[in-house]
Amino acid sequence: MSLVEDYLESYIDKLQLDCEGELGDLQRQSYEAGLPIIPKDVVKLLGFVLGVKKPKAILEIGMAVGFSSSYMSTFLPEDGYIKTIDRYPLMIEKAKANFKKLNVEDKITILEGDANEILPTLDEKFDFVFMDAAKGQYINILPDVLRVTKVGGIIMADDILQEGRVAMDYFDVPKRQRTIHKRLNEFLEEITHNKKLRTSILTIGDGVALIEKLED
Ligand SMILES: C[S@@+](CC[C@H](N)C(=O)[O-])C[C@H]1O[C@@H](n2cnc3c(N)ncnc32)[C@H](O)[C@@H]1O
Repeated sequence: MSLVEDYLESYIDKLQLDCEGELGDLQRQSYEAGLPIIPKDVVKLLGFVLGVKKPKAILEIGMAVGFSSSYMSTFLPEDGYIKTIDRYPLMIEKAKANFKKLNVEDKITILEGDANEILPTLDEKFDFVFMDAAKGQYINILPDVLRVTKVGGIIMADDILQEGRVAMDYFDVPKRQRTIHKRLNEFLEEITHNKKLRTSILTIGDGVALIEKLED
C-alpha cells in the first residue's frame, strides 16, 4: 500500500526513470522478482541527497542483493567507499555476484552478520548512513548509528511509516504489528525531538527520514 493515492503514485512512478545500463537491469529484475530493494521514488531521493552531500564514506545497514549500495557507489569520489551490513547468507551471495558483475567490488565492503553486533565494533565515522534493515531495530541501533556518523553527516532511514500505521493508536494496530509500531514510534519521537539532530519526515516510499547530525 502506498502512502499517497494510487493514481498519484503511479503517475510519479511513470515519470521517474529506472537506472541505466546493468544497474537498471538489476533494479528491474529485483522489482520483478519481488526482492526487497528500495522503490523508484526512494532511489531518486537517495540520489538527490548523495548528489548534494557528496559523501566519501558511506555505511549501509541492510544490503539485500546490493542494489542500493551499487547505486550509491556511482556517487562516490575516487577515494570513496561503502561498508554494507547484512546477515542473510542468500542475499550476501547474490550481492557478491552483483558487485562483481557491476564492477564495484573494490568500492564496497560487505560486513556479514547482525547489525546489532557489528555496529558496536565500528570505530570509524561516516558521512552518510543508509538505514534499510529490520525497522523494529532502528531505535536499538540508533545510538551506535549516531556514534559512527560525523557531525554534519546525514542519516537516511527507510520504511519508517508502516504504511501509515505508525499514526494509529496502539490498540487499533493488529496485535502482531504492535511491537514494531511501538518501536517505530519511539524511533520517530527520538529523531524528531533530539536537539542534536535536524530531521525531516517524508511520505516517500513507505516513509523516509532524513536526519542531519548537528553535534556529538
Ligand atoms: C529492505 S532489504 C535492503 C534493501 C537494499 N538496501 C536495497 O535497496 O537494495 C533489508 C535487508 O536487511 C537485512 N537485515 C534486516 N535486519 C538485519 C539486521 N539486524 N542485521 C543485518 N541485516 C539485517 C535483511 O537480511 C535484508 O537483506
